[in-house]
Amino acid sequence: MAATIISGKEMSAQIREQMTAEVQDLIGRGQGNKGFYPPGLAVIQVGEDPASSIYVRNKKRACEQVGILSFGYVLDETASQDELIDLIDTLNKDPRVHGILCQLPLPAHMDEFAVICAISPEKDVDGFHPVNKGLLSIGRECLVSCTPLGCLALLKNQGIEIAGKRCVVIGRSNIVGKPVALLMLAEHATVTIAHSRTQHLAELCREADIIIAAIGREGFVTKDFIKPGAVVIDVGINRSADGKVRGDVLFDEVSEIAGAITPVPGGVGPMTITMLLQNTLHAYKNITGRS
Ligand code: GUN
Repeated sequence: MAATIISGKEMSAQIREQMTAEVQDLIGRGQGNKGFYPPGLAVIQVGEDPASSIYVRNKKRACEQVGILSFGYVLDETASQDELIDLIDTLNKDPRVHGILCQLPLPAHMDEFAVICAISPEKDVDGFHPVNKGLLSIGRECLVSCTPLGCLALLKNQGIEIAGKRCVVIGRSNIVGKPVALLMLAEHATVTIAHSRTQHLAELCREADIIIAAIGREGFVTKDFIKPGAVVIDVGINRSADGKVRGDVLFDEVSEIAGAITPVPGGVGPMTITMLLQNTLHAYKNITGRS
């Protein structure tokens, strides 16, 4: 039987509609009050990498769609790390800004970790700061990276049971693999993180009730990896030779065996940006005490 298609596009549209109403309400109640600022996100880009420019544009557009202010900053490719950190320091102190996002990758002369560490943890809407990473690992309230949050929201909104299920995460990146594994663990799944050195990977995956594929290799997950009825979340965004965007999962054959599957595009991607908006609102509420 063909799998249920989990549409991140539709789910995102619903969440963004609710968020729009919430933001309007916040603004309606706050406007005119002394020291009130509507929710605001600062988006920093260094250089003009075309892919980064598209991501940044989409993030700013999504903010506008729900009524969150966006403040864009583009630094020259040759800007120094100190210049970037000075800008971050200013934004850390700016009361109009509740979230700060510095689009990665940064130019090679910059130390990504030092830059991430300069962002105030309470404005770190990417959830990349070691304080937020540490809090996540001990199961405390924090800002969590957007793609892992999007994966979890897809599962929960689809009504998929997680507690007690076996979950295999393929990929161990700091941005997706590790945090999504921690989120699944917090939901009481039995979690395995697999990676490029994992032996007997297909066999391991065939034991999984939920597979989260975040490898970055087009069509890596084939039908041989799938237990009939398993849920498959495809985090991959790979540009194919034919110019199309494809996931880490071979969708056509896997969808014949899986119970539910996210498509690429239209699955995890739109949810990632929606979670960025959600994180910005979350940071806004924490910083201002308004809800
Ligand atoms: N580059 C690719 N994905 C991301 C992301 O989620 N956040 C940031 N800041 N940069 C990225």
